[in-house]
Amino acid sequence: MVENRLIFAPYMNQYIQDIAICLQGIIEPESGSDIVKLKMIRDLKLENNQLHFKIFLPSAKYAHKDELYASIYSTISQKYPDLQIHAHFINQAPYADAPNTALPQISNFVAIASGKGGVGKSTISVSVAVALKNAGFKVGLMDADLYGPSIPTMLGIRDTKPKVIDQDGKHKIVPIDVEGISVISLGNIIETEQAVVLRGPRLAAIIKQFFYDTAWPALDYLIIDLPPGTGDVQLTLVQTIPLTGVIMVTTPQEVAYVDAVKAANMFEMEQIRVPVLGVIENMAWFSPDDQPEKKYYIFGEGAGQRLAEKTHSALLGQVPIRVGVRKSFDVGTGYNLDPSIDDVFKHIIEQLDQKVALRHLLFAPSQIVSAT
Ligand SMILES: Nc1ncnc2c1ncn2[C@@H]1O[C@H](COP(=O)(O)OP(=O)(O)O)[C@@H](O)[C@H]1O
Ligand SMILES: [Mg+2]
Repeated sequence: MVENRLIFAPYMNQYIQDIAICLQGIIEPESGSDIVKLKMIRDLKLENNQLHFKIFLPSAKYAHKDELYASIYSTISQKYPDLQIHAHFINQAPYADAPNTALPQISNFVAIASGKGGVGKSTISVSVAVALKNAGFKVGLMDADLYGPSIPTMLGIRDTKPKVIDQDGKHKIVPIDVEGISVISLGNIIETEQAVVLRGPRLAAIIKQFFYDTAWPALDYLIIDLPPGTGDVQLTLVQTIPLTGVIMVTTPQEVAYVDAVKAANMFEMEQIRVPVLGVIENMAWFSPDDQPEKKYYIFGEGAGQRLAEKTHSALLGQVPIRVGVRKSFDVGTGYNLDPSIDDVFKHIIEQLDQKVALRHLLFAPSQIVSAT
């Protein structure tokens, strides 16, 4: 059983995740916070029935060592009686993630990807950014769909030009502040009609400028709205920054699912190794305003769940089709989450934040992929 899960899910291993989730119930007595959040448990590894992990203790004199180990041991062995537990104690404050020397002020780079256009990536990118900001995170939003930047329209900043400042002798673009979210889009820099003629090398140069020639403030999350599929932008992205993970967006149709699997495969390739943090099924059903409790499954059902299983990740949420959503994004008020989707995005970002914490716990930090 254990071996099978390992063979079929070598990377974003659900079994390991489940163990980490059950460890989240254990509280470190001095701080009152859970041991996973404190990064006291790191480098979980499962080989056959042998579970290895490190326990970082705050100091050599730490008073709660035995008590903590006893609860870790009993928690795991109650739920997984077949596992042999090998804990390695390290008397040192939990180590930080490998410094992201490229852009140290940005903690997490999360891309929003899909197989097809029109499934709602940009809508989801904006909504995730807004929900994160509402929950108190510092958030940036990058419109990396250089062929068809739609974020300026969705946020009502089509006529705003970003400022350019001098920073350490270099010109840097200042992201546009939209209700506390730092936004950058090619749509604010050139006329959007010009964007369609951009070619590979030029695209790559722009993506690099979006990261390195931009005066990014300190951010918990930079959300990156991608074009559909697997092209120059996706490739440049993983060659430019250590991407924390991706969220896949699909609609319930089979055609959207099939292309989303292909797009997800690119990120999980051996040479790239960016984990899929989760799946959002958009346009999951339609609910009319006069009967909001009614659900019409006009595009079918189940693609989100299937994509989550296929990518060994989780379904973060299902977003219904609501007239209010379409309207607010068309008139440029996407920064106010429509009340009909407020709760689902609250749930999505709670899950996302948990997955990101687990991702840091379970996997080595992402690397910038080398250009060859
Ligand atoms: N859940 C939803 N309810 C209503 N309209 C939506 C929803 N999601 C997306 N839309 C609308 O569908 C269109 C395409 O969405 P968009 O985010 O631009 O897709 P993509 O970025 O994947 O091409 C937009 O007009 C958007 O307002
Ligand atoms: Mg888009």
